[in-house]
Amino acid sequence: MLFSLPSWIALIATLLCTLRAIYLDKWATADLQGTSVHESPRHVEGPNRWTMSDGNVVIGTEPDNIFYFVQLSDLHISQFQSKGYTIHFLHFLKSALPTISPEFVVVTGDLTDAKDARRITSSQHLAEWRVYEKALSEAGVVDGWYDLRGNHDCFDVPGWYDAANMYKDYAVSSRRLEDGQGVYEWEISKGTGKYKFVAFDACPKRGPSRPFNFFGYMPSSGMNRLADSIIGSEDKEPYNHTMVFAHYPTTTVAFGTSDDGYTYTDLANQFSVYFCGHLHKLLGGLGDSLKGYDPKTHSLELELGDMKDHASYRIVAVDHDLISFVDVNLPLPQIPFTAPHIPKAIDGESILPESIDMPPVVLITNPKEAKWILQYKEPVARIAQSEALRFLVFTQEQDPDSLRVEITIDGIQHPYPAQYKGVGDANGIGQGYTPLWISEWDPQSFNDMEEHTLRITVTDSAGRQGVDESVFKVNGARIDINGGPGEWIIWTKLSLSLKRCCILVIGSILAILLIPKLYSDYTPIGSPRYTAARDPILKRIHTLSKEPHTLANRTRYHVWLWTLRCIDMPRNMPIVWAGTLIYTLMLISLPWFKGEFIPVAQKSEDRYGLFYLFGIRLSDEWVPLADTWMFALFEVPFGLAAFVVVWIWRATDSADLHCSGTSRIRTLNERAWFKALVVIMWLWRVSEVLALGSFYGGVWPTLVQNSIIWWLLFAGVAIAAGKDGIFVRRSVKERNSSIWGRCIVCHKSTTGQEEDDTRRSLLDNMDDDPGSHSSSSSSTTESLQGLNVVKVRKSRK
Ligand SMILES: *[C@@H]1O[C@H](CO)[C@@H](O)[C@H](O)[C@H]1NC(C)=O
Ligand SMILES: [Zn+2]
Ligand SMILES: [Zn+2]
Repeated sequence: MLFSLPSWIALIATLLCTLRAIYLDKWATADLQGTSVHESPRHVEGPNRWTMSDGNVVIGTEPDNIFYFVQLSDLHISQFQSKGYTIHFLHFLKSALPTISPEFVVVTGDLTDAKDARRITSSQHLAEWRVYEKALSEAGVVDGWYDLRGNHDCFDVPGWYDAANMYKDYAVSSRRLEDGQGVYEWEISKGTGKYKFVAFDACPKRGPSRPFNFFGYMPSSGMNRLADSIIGSEDKEPYNHTMVFAHYPTTTVAFGTSDDGYTYTDLANQFSVYFCGHLHKLLGGLGDSLKGYDPKTHSLELELGDMKDHASYRIVAVDHDLISFVDVNLPLPQIPFTAPHIPKAIDGESILPESIDMPPVVLITNPKEAKWILQYKEPVARIAQSEALRFLVFTQEQDPDSLRVEITIDGIQHPYPAQYKGVGDANGIGQGYTPLWISEWDPQSFNDMEEHTLRITVTDSAGRQGVDESVFKVNGARIDINGGPGEWIIWTKLSLSLKRCCILVIGSILAILLIPKLYSDYTPIGSPRYTAARDPILKRIHTLSKEPHTLANRTRYHVWLWTLRCIDMPRNMPIVWAGTLIYTLMLISLPWFKGEFIPVAQKSEDRYGLFYLFGIRLSDEWVPLADTWMFALFEVPFGLAAFVVVWIWRATDSADLHCSGTSRIRTLNERAWFKALVVIMWLWRVSEVLALGSFYGGVWPTLVQNSIIWWLLFAGVAIAAGKDGIFVRRSVKERNSSIWGRCIVCHKSTTGQEEDDTRRSLLDNMDDDPGSHSSSSSSTTESLQGLNVVKVRKSRK
């Protein structure tokens, strides 16, 4: 037999568990696959309308072919938070909305906060939804308001028709969303243009409560409807632009494939902009620019900061089919701090606050900012033929003449005056108001392929200012966004990369456990092959340890050292090895734990679910959220791989690493502080599991029906009582040579340094084993080979 019985069992178990893992993964994501009946999936080409003709439309001085709308995101209306949250949204409704008077408003999710007062657990609160409903009705919102669910709006929601899904009863667009089964659309016509807007809900169909509800997914059924809306049929009339709204940035959504084989890329080829929220601004300015341009599909993805903390909103204008936008914050210093009063929906009482003074908001629409140019979807040639600079000014000022407008290009005063060309009056949504300003210009004098900076400053009669800047190129070429980490985050495909990283880590752990085990079967302890295989490695280590400490030498030293340790692990710690392998295989083939994922659900099968690496299984259905992979990507490296490293570190006796008698320095992992760190790491992992229990149902079931707990107990015993464990008294082992003899590995005489090193060796004895330093200290040394049991007598000089 080539390998030992345990190895055969391990190999077969690994094979079976891997097959089961593949099966579970397919099963858990079956809803995303689609039942493509076509031999080869259909794909649609990106459009190239504007490379041909643009209909000879000229961007002139009239308020035509222009409209604008507003996007809001992440309101997080909360009954507990007194700073920001609800109050920002109410001020937006009271002061900003009537001033802007957009064509329509889209709220891209997280309408309510749905957390408890300590912001830990989550569930839907009627009080918060009533605030949303009341605020909208008081603000007179009737038409032109579109809202979507965010993950917060589906925390602890067993299903669409459950009473806990308060979005269904209190939001504006729930009817449309329900009829469209997760997708709805609307369109508008302006001048010669027709525009389509599509909103979709990528929330889990069964929404777990926090924290495993961060990612979204779009099953094939949803992709079918998205493809219908965005791609449509072949003979459809073309829209000048299609824009998409969702809560989740694409990096946090697992997009399925439609039954016709359409993927997200096919959709993105057809639309111009994807508007989303959800990431707020991330931390530390990381998310200041969560915006990106995809050169493959020629589309933009624009994340918007939150209303809750930053009071952000976005105005998007489409002027002669050039799309421009500006992200604005409400004037935060003007928003009074209302604590401890938190706005509530009380019958007979007004919920909207007093209005605040808004500084003017400027949005340049021509020439369009070059960063956001969509060369293949916008008629960029119109910039060079345009007759006027065009910009929108939103202000509470009634009389446009009381505004002072200053225009500079590249810092030089623009020679033509600014003129108001607006129509209508500001007042709520969809009033046909267009506060357009223009100033004549000669684009050809800037048509030099270079970037130019147009800056427009508007000052109102009270001295408040609004500014917008556009770095443009007259030839309509795009310039890089240079969004830094934010742009990178937008394109990472997080939900996919988490999964890949996880598979890589688990695969590496399995390889590191299995390959050395098979190798050690070839070279069992006691056989001649053992010495023949192991001693050359030891010899290299001994030699390298004495060589000059260059980077190359140290690297080679460590490569050999860790190779040896990996090989020694299954031999010297068979039980720990087996336990680790079993746990790793359990992670890929069995549930990790049982949890109360949706506490509000009536039936126990809806309440309790099983956490698998591949998704959460609730009521006999899979919820394939990438959250499980994200959790695993913490749990596997810190809760498993880190311990594997510790085991491997301990596998080889440090006495083996040096010619005994020359030196016996303890390796890092044998020092007290390192052992303390291992214990701290273990305690940290335990506290994480306890936290998990506190989210999902407490001791029973989450802390008992939980393989992580059992693994940690096993690891705890190994740390304490296993090889080199903290409670194990280590006798000093000297390897197979005497202090006056030769190292049997290197065959080098060790006597030259005898005196010095004997003392060191004795000192080590005293550190490690206080009981053993009598005046005639003697220790029995057993080499691990079992071959060279040498009795060493040490005499003190
Ligand atoms: C909309 O598209 C049509 C046809 O492609 C084009 O002729 C028209 O000028 C576009 N409208 C605007 C406002 O650009
Ligand atoms: Zn949010
Ligand atoms: Zn969110």
